[in-house]
Parts: sequence; structure tokens; C-alpha cells
Amino acid sequence: MSDPYFQQLFSQRIGGPDYGKGTEIYKFEKIKRAKRKARADRPERPLVDFGIGENDEMAPRSVREEMANEIGRPENRGYADNGIAEFKAAAAAYMQREFDVRLNPETEVNHCIGSKTALAMFPAVLIDPGDVTLMTVPGYPVAGTHTKYYGGEVYNLPLRFENGFFPDLDSIPPEVLKRTKLLVLNYPNSPTGKVASREFFARVIAFAEQHRLVVVQDAAHVMLTYEGQPLSILQVPGGKDVGVEIHSLSKGWNMIGWRMGFVCGHERLVRAFADVKDNCDSGQFIAIQKAAAVALDDPETPRLVREKYRRRLEKLVATLGRCGFDCRMPGGTYFLYARAPKGIKGGPAFANAEEASQYLITEHSICTVPWDDAGPYLRFSVTYEARDEEMEDELMEETEDRLKGIGLVF
Ligand SMILES: Cc1ncc(COP(=O)(O)O)c(C=O)c1O
Repeated sequence: MSDPYFQQLFSQRIGGPDYGKGTEIYKFEKIKRAKRKARADRPERPLVDFGIGENDEMAPRSVREEMANEIGRPENRGYADNGIAEFKAAAAAYMQREFDVRLNPETEVNHCIGSKTALAMFPAVLIDPGDVTLMTVPGYPVAGTHTKYYGGEVYNLPLRFENGFFPDLDSIPPEVLKRTKLLVLNYPNSPTGKVASREFFARVIAFAEQHRLVVVQDAAHVMLTYEGQPLSILQVPGGKDVGVEIHSLSKGWNMIGWRMGFVCGHERLVRAFADVKDNCDSGQFIAIQKAAAVALDDPETPRLVREKYRRRLEKLVATLGRCGFDCRMPGGTYFLYARAPKGIKGGPAFANAEEASQYLITEHSICTVPWDDAGPYLRFSVTYEARDEEMEDELMEETEDRLKGIGLVF
């Protein structure tokens, strides 16, 4: 097929004139293809799918009912711009209830169409060409991608087991720090499952003040905290002086597809974010904002979601432990991050987690997500579909049977 006349016009940020010609397949596409192949090659062997990173249940009935009521109201039909007061008030009340953080709903809270979009927009608030964003790896790369779109640079901070899955802030070269404007954190951390401590956040705040940089703390998984109580950086003295926190309705309330979240923290940063956002979208549908306000007013749903995933993670930790994996209960998220096997007894050796993951899916129909950024790890998600606890137990038995028979070497 010949190139369209505009082939030479694609921006460098997406590959320039080579856009669309690469043969590189991205990790999640590779997994999708491997899943399809496993199903086709072994239709009699059910896929054990620990690869999905989305809640397996619908949003609570109260939220769906509110949506059903609000969807028909003419006053909800228009552009929502930077959001309705009712949602901002619900977000501020939630922050007060869950974290004892007091926010002015008018000036210190702004909704976003899911936290992904807020992470994509935030670099526009701060990053000019040559500026640096510090990102933790493995992690959710969106803010880094957009930093590069603006001509900025990303400096990666690996999250290693030896450092308790916290970034080593002292390792950043002074030349990089001088150009750094933004530090993006994510706790509870995806995929490592690490939760932040007050001491860690206090250190981050002192670091930000010392080096005059802004902190964006991605709290998308915060209601899935198993170790201690859910923690906001805004609870820690000085937190609001150095940045913002991004919250999401996706994980804690089973509202993945609804696309609702909010940014909160320093008034000037929230305002700057709202200005950028105003130039990107016209706000989430008001009926969804009203339904999300109902969700935030309900403390029970996140507790139920948390207990379900805690139970599933505990079962998975025990199951994988019996199969030779060295893993422990994560502090948060619905992910278990376990060191990848090195190979198979009498069989292939794996050069990295990606090879281990490909082997498990193609040979044994067990789907995981590999991470090789800071050592070879497999991410097991417990968002698989299972009707009840009996089905969860059956799935664990099936997993154990298959894994024990493989002869994994660690
Ligand atoms: C760490 C992290 N941040 C942000 C998001 C985006 O969440 P949403 O856009 O659904 O709020 C995800 C989604 O998987 C995530 O894992």
C-alpha cells in the first residue's frame, strides 16, 4: 500500500514519517494476541486470566439508579466545563471523611474525565522544552509521555525491592534536579502494590521544597489499601504546599468505564490544571458527575470492594507460594507483583519476565503481565471474573495444578 500524501507530516512525537510502519508490538497487544492464540490452540483448556487490570463488577446500584434518574433531566444536557459544584462538594466531603483533609471545594478541587486524562494534562501546566519530569518505573507512563510531547525529558526512578519499592531520591544527578519541575508518584503503587508511609511522604515534601519542584501523587488505587489506613499526601504537613493528588472513581467504586476522577491540592495548581483542562475537554456529562457524587457519599462500597480484593489476593499469595513463587500480600491495589521464574526444569530458560509471561500464556493458558523495568516481575491481577467464593477457590486450585506441573525454576 502506498503512503498517503500526509505520511511526511506526522509529528516526531509519534514517529514522524515512519509512523505506522514499525513492527514493534506493544506489551499489552502482545498479551492480547497470545491470549487469542492460546484459546485457538487449546480450546478445551480454559484461560486463567490474571492479566486484566479492570474491576470485574458493575458500579453500585445506587450509582446506576442516580445515573438513570439524571440522564433524562434536561438541565444536565449541556457542557459541564470545569465541573458542577455538587461533585466538588462531594469530593471535598470524601477527602474530609476518609483522610481528614479539609479542602475548599470551589478552589482546591477540580473534576477530570478519569485520572488518566489529568495525568496527560498536568505536564502542560509545568513543562517547557528541556524541563524534566521524574517518573517511577515500573509504572503508569502517561505523564511521562506527555512530558516528552512538550519537549521535556523524563528521568526514571526505578522501584526496587531492595529500596522497599520507594524511589531513591538521593540518586538523582544534580544536573537533572536543576531542570526538574515535576515528580510523579503513585501510591498505592501499581504494579508493585507498595503503599506509602507518612515518613515517605514527609521526605517527598521536604525534597520538593528543597529542590523547588511540584509533586503529583496519583492516588487512583487509594481505597484499595490493605496495610494500614488509606493515606493521602495531603494529610501530611506541607503536602498541600507542594502539589496535588489525583483521585479516581474507577477502582474503589467499580466505576472504571464511567471516567470520573478529581484533582485536589494547592489552589494555584488546581486552577492551572483547570485552565489546561478547559482547553482540552468540556467536562464530564453532568449526569455522570451527579452519579459520582452519590458514589463518593457512600463509604460502604469501597470497603466492600477492598475486602473482596483483599480476600482474593490472600488466596493468590498462598497459591503462588505453594508453587514456588516468593510473594507476599501487597499493601494495596488489586495486583500481586511477584519475581518471575528463571526457567523450566529441563526446559527453556527465561531471559526476562516477558519470556516467562509468554511461556505461561502460550504453553499453559495462564495470563500475566510482565514488567522488566526494575528486575523481572510478573503482575497477577485478581480482577478475574468469578461468581462467588467457590469459583474463586476452583480457580486457585486450577492455577495450582497447572503451575505445580510445570517445574518452574526461581
Ligand atoms: C496507577 C494508575 N493511575 C491511573 C490510572 C487511570 O485510572 P482512571 O483513568 O480510570 O482514573 C490507572 C489505571 O489503570 C492506574 O493504574
